Amino acid sequence: MRIFSGIRPTGNIHLGNYLGAVKQWIALQEKHECIFCIVDLHAITTPYSREEMQKNILDAATIYLAAGVDPEKAIIFVQSEIKEHTELAWLLGTITPMGELQRMTQFKEKAKKHPEYVNAGLLNYPILMASDIMLYKADAVPVGKDQEQHVELTRTIAKKFNQKFGKTFPEPEVVLPETGAKIMSLTNPKKKMSKSDDARSCIFLFDTPEDIQKKIMSAETDSGKDVIYNVTKKPGISNLLTIYSLVTGNPIKEIEKEYKGKGYGEFKKGLAKAVIEYLEPFRRKQKELTTRDVYVKEILNQGKMRAQTIAQATMQEVREEMGLT
Ligand code: AMP
Ligand code: TRP
Repeated sequence: MRIFSGIRPTGNIHLGNYLGAVKQWIALQEKHECIFCIVDLHAITTPYSREEMQKNILDAATIYLAAGVDPEKAIIFVQSEIKEHTELAWLLGTITPMGELQRMTQFKEKAKKHPEYVNAGLLNYPILMASDIMLYKADAVPVGKDQEQHVELTRTIAKKFNQKFGKTFPEPEVVLPETGAKIMSLTNPKKKMSKSDDARSCIFLFDTPEDIQKKIMSAETDSGKDVIYNVTKKPGISNLLTIYSLVTGNPIKEIEKEYKGKGYGEFKKGLAKAVIEYLEPFRRKQKELTTRDVYVKEILNQGKMRAQTIAQATMQEVREEMGLT
């Protein structure tokens, strides 16, 4: 099986990104051929800082490595360095129905959030994502729940290409984690944790212990005082229970038992301690890697060369099939 996934280099990564996507990558790289991409061309479809882009790309690579992506096992590279991504995206655009793009939830949400920035790139975002996946003929795509719809559209595009031009691409499967596919915001547990929201709503992987403590202690909770998992009645506590369970490996039922009659305060204190401990190795590795820019750049360079070989071969095939050579 070949696996492909990516994250936009928009600064920090949060616990939702890690538990929803990156944690799965670490497990998958042990058994499969994995390709992990820093998708800078996707990042420019929403407002961004030109000055910070290069730093954010390097930070993203550092984050992948600190989180446990092994460059000996997986390919890590920067999307814009391989021109075939945009080339294939154009070709796939000619077989993608407009209506499909307009009904994508992410497009609608982002267009609403930045009404002054509704560019064609934002609409075409899923075509570029399909291109990322198909260029490497990936069989599976580990992502969080919010990206499931985009992977489904990729399947539709792959199927259409195969029907029209001959069997070329696998129809990639989405890989969602059993729990953690949608970690919610700490300040508004009805919304997903998102890096474009207030920093207090997210736990970033490299937050200091003090920040983690503060954010968890002030996280939105629900009425009542019992620590019980019930997503409709207690979205805040349920989200915190999910995180608690994922960082400790203890089932939710046991955590409920442990905090029976103890109230939200005690529960949050316990959770803060568990998250701080869980993230300690990430902070340590990140500190070490930030002083090793040259090493990180070399990994991206090697990744680029390995990815390029695959990308060029696919493009050659696609051009022939579409009658473009
Ligand atoms: P992004 O930051 O949007 O590039 O997302 C990178 C990866 O993290 C994607 O696979 C997303 O599906 C996943 N992700 C983002 N936010 C969350 C969340 N709140 N819970 C779980 N997974 C998430
Ligand atoms: N759209 C994804 C996100 O916002 C990032 C992404 C781009 C991606 N290309 C991809 C994820 C290919 C998986 C596969 O999170």
